[in-house]
Amino acid sequence: MLIRKPDDIPALEITPKADYMNRRKFLAQAAAVGLTAGSALFSPRSAFAGTKLQAVKSPLTTTGEELTSYKDVTTFNNFYEFGTGKEEPAIYAQDLPTRPWTLRVEGKVKKPLTFDIDQLLKLRPLEDRVYRHRCVEAWSMVIPWIGYSLSELIKQCEPLSTAKYVQFLSWYDKRYIHWPGQTGIQWPYSEGLRMDEAMHPLTLLTFGLYGEVLPNQNGAPVRIVVPWKYGFKSAKSIVTMRFIDYMPPTTWNELAPTEYGFYSNVNPNVDHPRWSQKTERRIGQPFYAQRKTTLFLNGYADQVASLYTGMDLKRNF
Ligand code: MTE
Repeated sequence: MLIRKPDDIPALEITPKADYMNRRKFLAQAAAVGLTAGSALFSPRSAFAGTKLQAVKSPLTTTGEELTSYKDVTTFNNFYEFGTGKEEPAIYAQDLPTRPWTLRVEGKVKKPLTFDIDQLLKLRPLEDRVYRHRCVEAWSMVIPWIGYSLSELIKQCEPLSTAKYVQFLSWYDKRYIHWPGQTGIQWPYSEGLRMDEAMHPLTLLTFGLYGEVLPNQNGAPVRIVVPWKYGFKSAKSIVTMRFIDYMPPTTWNELAPTEYGFYSNVNPNVDHPRWSQKTERRIGQPFYAQRKTTLFLNGYADQVASLYTGMDLKRNF
């Protein structure tokens, strides 16, 4: 994001899954390169990683494009709580304690509720939904997520008519954060959506990918996925959803308001101040492969363009 320009992103050195999963080996490697990550807080790697999730195919799936490999989806990540390098979350997020886990829904709702993660998993049948995933840094993936529409959860809490926005707050424990001073981010990671965006059926409350529970680095145990927006709108590892009557402060917008707008809808006609948004690099393809043309609203215009009727999308970027 702010820290690197797309062209500066080095080719990812892909660590074999068996290797990066091997904690002992990692600790030895970390010690060898003098990393400070070996705090007393190291917990064993999540016992849930790799657990299968039953899901039905969703009519809201995007079809026809080749899926990004599991390896790329789980080793090329942005999760700044666990480092700024793309390969770091796959290593350091193994410390994220995903059980017990609760999601608190509060603010302007008739029924403020706290859900245990296992209760949330059973609230609605899980769906398998393939979505395009477009990062503001001009790379993209195609990912088979598992979850159900966020609206299903929102309905349970009965928002008041005064609820205009939803704010998502991610898990945060400063004892686990890696190199906290480096990013300038004010934790916890905060994101937000307008009510109608949050209620749109495409907005996915996400528990898994590739038929399994979310790997920690992808935002376990529960995250949001908003496929027509740049990836940073999709907050990971969320613990609080707050219904409010004002546009919430959001992490990247606070850090660089001229670069990352509140809406951040994928839009090839509105460039980032430092690079073009007209094309994207599909992760997993060789660097010399032709870049893909970025689609307006990431290809979901038929479903969501009406949310923005009459809005100037250059101003409301
Ligand atoms: N959520 C939290 N809590 N912290 C983060 O750093 N990064 C965002 C978003 N959600 C981020 C986050 C960004 S910049 C992107 S592109 C996506 O997560 C990346 O999701 P992925 O790693 O599953 O591809």
